[in-house]
Amino acid sequence: PDMQSLLNLDEIEEVATKQVSKKCWAYYFSASDDMVTKSFNNQVYKQILLRPRVFIDCTKCDTSTSLLGHKVGLPLYVSPAAMARLSHPAGEHGIAQGISSFGALQIVSTNASMTPEQIVEGSAPGQIFGWQLYVQNERKKSEAMLARINKMPDKYKFIALTLDAPVPGKRELDEKSKDLGSSEPIRSAVMGADAPKRPGGGGVGQQLFFGTAADLTWKTTLPWLAKHTSLPIVLKGIQTHEDAYLAMQYAPQVKAIILSNHGGRALDTAPPAVHTLLEIRKYCPEVFSRIEVWVDGGIKRGTDVVKALCLGAKAVGVGRAALFGLGAGGVEGVHRTFEILKAEIETCMRLLGVEKVEDLGPRYINSRAVERD
Ligand code: FNR
Repeated sequence: PDMQSLLNLDEIEEVATKQVSKKCWAYYFSASDDMVTKSFNNQVYKQILLRPRVFIDCTKCDTSTSLLGHKVGLPLYVSPAAMARLSHPAGEHGIAQGISSFGALQIVSTNASMTPEQIVEGSAPGQIFGWQLYVQNERKKSEAMLARINKMPDKYKFIALTLDAPVPGKRELDEKSKDLGSSEPIRSAVMGADAPKRPGGGGVGQQLFFGTAADLTWKTTLPWLAKHTSLPIVLKGIQTHEDAYLAMQYAPQVKAIILSNHGGRALDTAPPAVHTLLEIRKYCPEVFSRIEVWVDGGIKRGTDVVKALCLGAKAVGVGRAALFGLGAGGVEGVHRTFEILKAEIETCMRLLGVEKVEDLGPRYINSRAVERD
């Protein structure tokens, strides 16, 4: 279909659902257990109300911001997600191409279906990436991957270490569809034939997680990482104010945290990022000035993005939206997804009476309905 005729992210997801394989859809769509966290991730934004100010000149609107000291065109980035080529041959490279004109950042997964070198090939000047690390049991393999990333310093600007899924959640949709489609073992491109194979197969998630370390700790993993990269570290999967506070103690090696529950794919009934943002605001607001706080999960509308920014997030990530954009229309589908979100963010900012991203703040929202303590 003509991508321009699609008006919102739900319509794009609907098209992708029809086009991609059943196995791919089940892997992308799935979340853990009863998928409570997945649906709450989005619903929580609907309970926050905006407080528009009027009689303000809103002819101008600037969505650019800075992340880790780099200028970006949008406070919106692509979250790391495995196996983009399950939905479209353009894969993670197609996602990079689709967002390039927006100056948006992309985090590439350890379990990407293309190599980190392929993904950034031909990217726009100034287009930047982060690389997401799942530490492998065989540390030497992770060290070799980090060495490859270190060789592309003009592209990969940080390492995002994922902490919320030391073991995969119980994703029943994904498990149910394990026998659909190709019998090829599912594995990450960066490890290639070197990837450990799970005996007996399993869902896509179970196969990808095989060989991933479950023994990461604050005390042991960060010093190990410092030995193998000098890139800034972003900790992904923080879900409480206690851990946000701990993360801050590791600045400046740790430059940002991502409040995330893995799109509801790790622990079901874990809190949406909005709750963690509210906790941090209440118990340790100094976190916001010491390190950057990014969030992801459940983003479907520009207003969702703006609300997270008002609560103190510096950037907001989309996981499934990028994958479904790719599945709906390849590079063009990803481009359309970001075009819609950018236009919705601009309309929202204008109607709030805000010209610049950094002027957004708690005075533009009423979040009382989601404040619990
Ligand atoms: C993910 N996510 C993820 N996270 C990560 O750190 N490494 C990974 O390899 C993956 N893989 C992955 C695959 C798929 C299919 C999905 C849907 C998600 C989690 C991702 O980075 C992000 O936290 C969530 O996707 C955000 O939620 P939404 O935007 O999908 O609702």
